[in-house]
Amino acid sequence: MNNQPILRVDRLSKSFRGLHAITGLSFAIQPGSITSIIGPNGAGKSTLFNLVTGYLAPSAGQIWFQGRLITGMPTNRIAERGIARAFQIARPFRDLSVFDNVRIGSLFGKAGPRDVAATTARAMQLAAIAHLADRPASALTVGQLRHLEVARAIATRADLLLADEPCAGLNPTETAAMIDVLRRIRASGVTILLVEHDMPSVMEVSDRLLVLDAGRLIADGSPSDVANNPQVIEAYLGSTEPEDTESQTAEPAIRQGSKI
Ligand SMILES: Nc1ncnc2c1ncn2[C@@H]1O[C@H](COP(=O)(O)OP(=O)(O)OP(=O)(O)O)[C@@H](O)[C@H]1O
Ligand SMILES: [Mg+2]
Repeated sequence: MNNQPILRVDRLSKSFRGLHAITGLSFAIQPGSITSIIGPNGAGKSTLFNLVTGYLAPSAGQIWFQGRLITGMPTNRIAERGIARAFQIARPFRDLSVFDNVRIGSLFGKAGPRDVAATTARAMQLAAIAHLADRPASALTVGQLRHLEVARAIATRADLLLADEPCAGLNPTETAAMIDVLRRIRASGVTILLVEHDMPSVMEVSDRLLVLDAGRLIADGSPSDVANNPQVIEAYLGSTEPEDTESQTAEPAIRQGSKI
């Protein structure tokens, strides 16, 4: 059972009144990995997160977590199984301290016995905000709020963390700190699925990239394989013609470039 994927998605589809946001998507994620899902705007990345966490029910297909079917389950039951999501926009309880915000995370989430104080402390430490424990959330910077959001998610004792653009809006120093946190979380035994537009960070931190375009998986491989994949370059820039000057910048853009 050691090689059992932590997450398996099988022929997953989701349409919104005829708009195919996700079409026939299949992949499996091994435990202990950091996998990034990349793709142009509207590719279906957030929809995939919404399906895995139960915010949306799929139109077709199945989702398995730790070998058990979770398709169509309500969000709270999926959280009890051990999946947490760090939202792009953190909405902490502003008047509560960092400690209390993270503590709330530890009161929910994965089913089973828990040591609330220890879980809270550990989550703050992993997210590098232990020194801010007594600060009210309202006093945090944008970067610190992102760390708080990740800490709250981890405090649920999740085995799988879905992180939605944790580096959005962060400066390079803050981005590097967040990448460090993600690595530490992975080292603590949590598998990470990441949606992130900051390509240098994605390339640096990911074991594997899944590339979505218009709801379909168009590439799946190591960061360097994907960066050299012509179909991926085309999806981002709409052309792979050698004469096209834009395409000459496409590859570096994906490999090291800025936000896409
Ligand atoms: N609740 C919804 N109702 C109708 N259409 C939706 C809904 N959610 C997403 N869509 C549509 O599904 C497609 C995929 O959207 P999604 O938000 O998953 O893309 P994304 O890859 O996360 O894009 P971005 O990088 O801009 O966040 C888009 O065409 C979007 O307009
Ligand atoms: Mg999105």
